[in-house]
Amino acid sequence: MAAPTVEKVQEIREVTRIERIGAHSHIRGLGLDDALDARNVSQGMVGQTEARRAAGVILEMIKEGKIAGRAVLIAGHPGTGKTAIAMGMAQALGTDTPFTSIAGSEIFSLEMSKTEALTQAFRKSIGVRIKEETEIIEGEVVEIQIDRPATGTGAKVGKLTLKTTEMETIYDLGQKMIESLTKEKVQAGDIITIDKATGKITKLGRSFTRARDYDAMGAQTKFVQCPEGELQKRKEVVHTVTLHEIDVINSRTQGFLALFSGDTGEIKGEVREQINSKVAEWREEGKAEIVPGVLFIDEVHMLDIECFSFLNRALESDMAPILIMATNRGITRIRGTQYQSPHGIPIDLLDRLLIISTTPYQEKEIKQILTIRCEEEDVEMSDEALIVLTRIGMETSLRYAIQLITTANLVSRKRKGTEVDVDDIKRVYSLFLDESRSTQFLKEYQQEFMFNELGVDASAMETS
Ligand SMILES: Nc1ncnc2c1ncn2[C@@H]1O[C@H](COP(=O)(O)OP(=O)(O)O)[C@@H](O)[C@H]1O
Ligand SMILES: [Mg+2]
Repeated sequence: MAAPTVEKVQEIREVTRIERIGAHSHIRGLGLDDALDARNVSQGMVGQTEARRAAGVILEMIKEGKIAGRAVLIAGHPGTGKTAIAMGMAQALGTDTPFTSIAGSEIFSLEMSKTEALTQAFRKSIGVRIKEETEIIEGEVVEIQIDRPATGTGAKVGKLTLKTTEMETIYDLGQKMIESLTKEKVQAGDIITIDKATGKITKLGRSFTRARDYDAMGAQTKFVQCPEGELQKRKEVVHTVTLHEIDVINSRTQGFLALFSGDTGEIKGEVREQINSKVAEWREEGKAEIVPGVLFIDEVHMLDIECFSFLNRALESDMAPILIMATNRGITRIRGTQYQSPHGIPIDLLDRLLIISTTPYQEKEIKQILTIRCEEEDVEMSDEALIVLTRIGMETSLRYAIQLITTANLVSRKRKGTEVDVDDIKRVYSLFLDESRSTQFLKEYQQEFMFNELGVDASAMETS
């Protein structure tokens, strides 16, 4: 057996995600069955079956990964679930397929040109799946030794001894590694692997040589052979990054830090060209494949004629993602021109699109969506209250009714109620105006609003 050597294993910080309740957080997918038919209520989705089915077909197309540069338009009235369907598609795609979501108006508010903003959005939606070899350490734990600092404060340090049938090595442990070892409950006799790049520890099982040591081990204990050969091994791993991430890392001195700050600025054309040819090279060598993802542009009528012409062109590239757009506009002026067009989209672009339309909901569907939202927000609501809220949803808008759930629940809690009842709904209905009552109010009291604003000047005018 070789003499033990001492090495340092790199550590990285963990990132945790915070889940919050948003407008579409109840959507977990498109709710389709294997034949791509929409189940009436599934994965948080209700009704709108035709559109969901169509979205499912597009989804299959995306999953095949072969088709690039197709574009889809979801068109329909406000609040008919256009954004919800796009979010459902994103959920169904999983994390390995890039999905970027922007609103048409964002293009104009970024500190860069419109076409740069669109180019970045496009490249964020194209994945490059890269195969890479990484180094792992695999062995049987001989001993873990953890030293607490004498003062009682400060970082713990320690040593980990690992062996294979042929060698033994002692590794220095930092705070993070000690934590992961403790979390995984690693002890002498376990066979583990450590990813050298990330410091991630995986327990493979217990060594056969320890099988007789403990009678008290559970039946689920898995026994494995002590590994042979070297402690360090190479393993192939696959990971997906987006073209945009590669652009950013290569475009600035601060490199990948710009990814976190979002301060990427404009990326030079030459950088992108170099990256494109590098990626093409990797593809030929079999080191990488392209994963066309999805770019979702909501409120697409906010784009102007230059953006539309850019889209037309960009869709023709073989590294284009699937473009999904949504709009609630009918025949309207194309921004930046005097011409009218369906959905405010130029005819030549419209001609390339697959159009999915959404239709207004029936009472029953509104009720189901509201029920799902109540569950999502952890709100108990009486049956009568739900009926009243559904009526409100029918007569005003689905969004307004959804908003009332949270507010009515607050009112109900304030009066120490156990569930939201009809009075709570009435209360918030009178507190918060929906769009049509608000318009009505403005019309009726227009005089007063004007008078208030001009109050000082008006009285000054009278005296002069
Ligand atoms: N079919 C549906 N199933 C479940 N929730 C829906 C459905 N349609 C709409 N919603 C929810 O209703 C609200 C309004 O829908 P949204 O998708 O924003 O409408 P649009 O984008 O068409 O204006 C959102 O909170 C959305 O998640
Ligand atoms: Mg929307």
